[in-house]
Amino acid sequence: MTTSLNSKDRLIFALDVPDKNEALRFVKLLQGSVGCFKVGLELFVREGPDILKLIKDNSSADIFLDLKLHDIPATVRGALRSAANLGVKYITIHSTEGEAILETAKEVKDLGLEVLAVTMLTSMGDGQLHDLGVDPKIKIRDVVLDRALRAEQSGCAGIVCSGEEIALVRQKCGDNFKIVVPGIRPEWSQISSDDQNRIATPGKAIAAGADLIVVGRPIRNAENAEVAARKIVSEIEAALNP
Ligand code: C5P
Repeated sequence: MTTSLNSKDRLIFALDVPDKNEALRFVKLLQGSVGCFKVGLELFVREGPDILKLIKDNSSADIFLDLKLHDIPATVRGALRSAANLGVKYITIHSTEGEAILETAKEVKDLGLEVLAVTMLTSMGDGQLHDLGVDPKIKIRDVVLDRALRAEQSGCAGIVCSGEEIALVRQKCGDNFKIVVPGIRPEWSQISSDDQNRIATPGKAIAAGADLIVVGRPIRNAENAEVAARKIVSEIEAALNP
């Protein structure tokens, strides 16, 4: 686990909102309480790279561009090169196609862009994996570990996985490999018709060895988003100093 990050730096807020006005409202509200803002497809497709400038102009937090790139190696390489000029710290690519795509991460490392490989979406459970025709003997944690090892050997900065696989990945991939974990649900949060499947609390994820956690709806839908973010940072702090 990266030890240089403080508790606030470990919290990434998913800016899953429809437009720049809503995004700006959350950036202004949360910029003192989270370490990073994650821009996903919903916001980026609507607003384009201007949204990144807006975030930078209104906070000093890092930016995570969660585009989950999934294409042939040449196209992913080109997209990463374009993203390296946008001043974001993290970007995601899919890991399903193996090393040829994962190795594109090396080409933007020196430009300061950290490429994270998505192993298996946290909305997936073993049942859904087997419904797709995968041998029932193969479990999600096996697939995640296999993809994590390939990502690590190919030069990715880290991976995205669920709370359920953190300890295993940490043990096999070492301390210098970033583990970023969405599907975070604090005990106090209730998300109606939740689509996340493999979930963990902030404390459990950090205690298991996550470097960073991604939280969207538990903060966005809270009565007071700032209080919710601060509660999560306190939980991270407690997990780091048991
Ligand atoms: O609202 P919630 O806390 O579930 O948001 C989780 C965020 O993490 C979403 O933006 C989603 O796209 C992202 N994510 C995920 N599972 C992955 C990778 C990213 O849920 N494996």
